[in-house]
Amino acid sequence: MESKKLIMNYDTVALDDENSALVIIDQTKLPGKMEILRLTNQKDIWEAIYFLKVRGAPAIGVAAAIGVYLAAKEIQADDFDDFYKLFDQAKDYLASSRPTAVNLFWALNRMDSVVKANRGKSVSEIKELLHNEAIAIRKEDIWVCKQIGEFGLTLVKPGDGILTHCNAGQLATVKYGTATAPMYLGHERGYNFKIFADETRPLLQGARLTAFELFESGLDVTLICDNMSATVMKNGWVKAIFVGCDRVAANGDAANKIGTSVVAIVAKRYNIPFYICAPTSTIDMSTKTGADIKIEQRPAEEVTEMWYKERMSPEGIKVFNPAFDVTDNDLISGIVTEYGIARAPYTETLKDIFQKKEKFKDSF
Ligand code: MRU
Repeated sequence: MESKKLIMNYDTVALDDENSALVIIDQTKLPGKMEILRLTNQKDIWEAIYFLKVRGAPAIGVAAAIGVYLAAKEIQADDFDDFYKLFDQAKDYLASSRPTAVNLFWALNRMDSVVKANRGKSVSEIKELLHNEAIAIRKEDIWVCKQIGEFGLTLVKPGDGILTHCNAGQLATVKYGTATAPMYLGHERGYNFKIFADETRPLLQGARLTAFELFESGLDVTLICDNMSATVMKNGWVKAIFVGCDRVAANGDAANKIGTSVVAIVAKRYNIPFYICAPTSTIDMSTKTGADIKIEQRPAEEVTEMWYKERMSPEGIKVFNPAFDVTDNDLISGIVTEYGIARAPYTETLKDIFQKKEKFKDSF
């Protein structure tokens, strides 16, 4: 009998060269149905990002890099300026899909730099270089997440209870996740963590995605509603909190899924360390503080009727539905990156992280 293919063996986001397609798992269908999408046109790719078929900051970045490469591949122009005009339009289009995760802009800017740096080359050579860059961005994400896992693992002990919010897992990255990377590595090494996954209203990324991928991978995971996290913390069941992030400002303020800052505030009350897991592609040194981060507002229906059998609130009710909130830097015990763990004062230590990154690059 053929064994079931587990989530860890699927690609969250990939490039199908033969069919010129962005390949993703349609995350809106999980956990009920594993549907693989092969997207070939820009509107479908834009919609996949907007409607959260592919989601999570690193995965969005990789999808955008592959997406803009596919757009570039289709451009019929021999002259650089003609090519660049259309490339730039494709880039702006994908950049308009979601505003908060800086990885989207980071990846598109990386692709843009490749084009600008190779002005002297032929358009077909530039297309090849864009292909290579998209592949490199994807590949790097795997290494980055593994490194975050190794650093994160130094912050916890076998048997610890760990709480997480939203999905910063395999499904939000190419592999391992960011906040879940220490959990997966620990699992491989027999750490027996007890994970608590917040369900994460309104889109249930914790219930549908985190609980699903950790459970399927054999970790000990307990699903809780968002309003239960104070209880599990007060009970002494949580020794550390690991969450992902969509954008870290230069002062360490961190935007992540709505509800994250509540978890951080409660964690402070119970003296539980609260860690942001963020690849350097999520750290935006050009955004000074959390107040400068644009927070995505999403449709009211996500709150009023989605997931319910029938509408659960009066027609016409006012709804406030921000997708993210900003956790103030003083609530954050550390920012776990692929180059180490930054601690307060973040204005200084995040710069050190980028210096390490530069040195690492130079060592090749
Ligand atoms: O709206 P989503 O599902 O894209 O939000 C995702 C999150 O908030 C994640 O925690 C964040 O992107 C980090 S993913 C490693």
